[in-house]
Amino acid sequence: MAYDNILVETNGHVGVITLHRPKALNALNGALIAELGTALDGFEADPGIGCLVLTGSERAFAAGADIREMQPLTFPGTYTDDFLTSWDRLARCRKPVVAAVAGYALGGGCELAMMCDIILAADNARFGQPEIQLGILPGAGGSQRLTRAIGKAKAMEMCLTGRTLTAEEADRYGLVSRVVPLAELQAEAMKVADTIANLSLPSVVMAKESVNRAFETTLAEGIRFERRLFQALFATADQKEGMAAFVEKRSASFNNA
Ligand code: CAA
Repeated sequence: MAYDNILVETNGHVGVITLHRPKALNALNGALIAELGTALDGFEADPGIGCLVLTGSERAFAAGADIREMQPLTFPGTYTDDFLTSWDRLARCRKPVVAAVAGYALGGGCELAMMCDIILAADNARFGQPEIQLGILPGAGGSQRLTRAIGKAKAMEMCLTGRTLTAEEADRYGLVSRVVPLAELQAEAMKVADTIANLSLPSVVMAKESVNRAFETTLAEGIRFERRLFQALFATADQKEGMAAFVEKRSASFNNA
């Protein structure tokens, strides 16, 4: 499949998707989001892929939804087409996704990063939800995921004023996993993704599902859900292999079975 707005490559067991509209700071138009969905479908269906990396350029992860494309939209049209719902494909990805964020992650860019499971930020990263300055509000989950990530006070200030966070602030507030020098971002993201991709895929997918369940349910139900998944993993050959490897003091070799 040929892509016009993203670059797609495989590196070992890691699928790498690079947002690539350099002239528009990777502004997220409909064509890009459709291509992202197709790439995600491909990697999800590929048994050789255990983890994904989503990244952009050094200047911009993505500067938001494409404002030129949105400018003429109307309420009846956005409602009928359920505008932005196709973006949720990333949040529905079952394999883990590491966001490697450098430069601007604004509006929909920040929202895409927050749909990923781990955010690694370069020291030049800037996170923000500036939609309010355009007379709109975040539309791809920003007001919800940001609030869960950094709390009401900080999310409210960002959503109401459009204030952006430096990478250091985003780290301190708990929005990102950690900050690394720009020059090391891609290598560090690959290292994290490669580590995950070499683990047992069933346990990785279940661990992701279990953490995400914490956002959807009560503590008691979440713990019950986790317990069932934990018990289910004792039906896998990888659990036998992982524990045998520990006891025999060797590294484990998982078969995703
Ligand atoms: N949509 C469309 N084009 C965009 C864009 C966007 N979100 N962001 C940047 N661009 C384009 C610019 O129009 C410009 O194109 P031209 O050269 O053809 O004029 C090019 O990218 C470079 O941008 P700038 O010249 O503005 O670069 P800068 O360094 O001076 O500023 C910036 C960088 C601060 C990120 C600025 O571009 C900016 O404020 N962009 C918009 C950010 C924004 O408001 N994002 C939210 C969008 S709404 C949204 O995302 C809704 C949602 O919830 C999904």
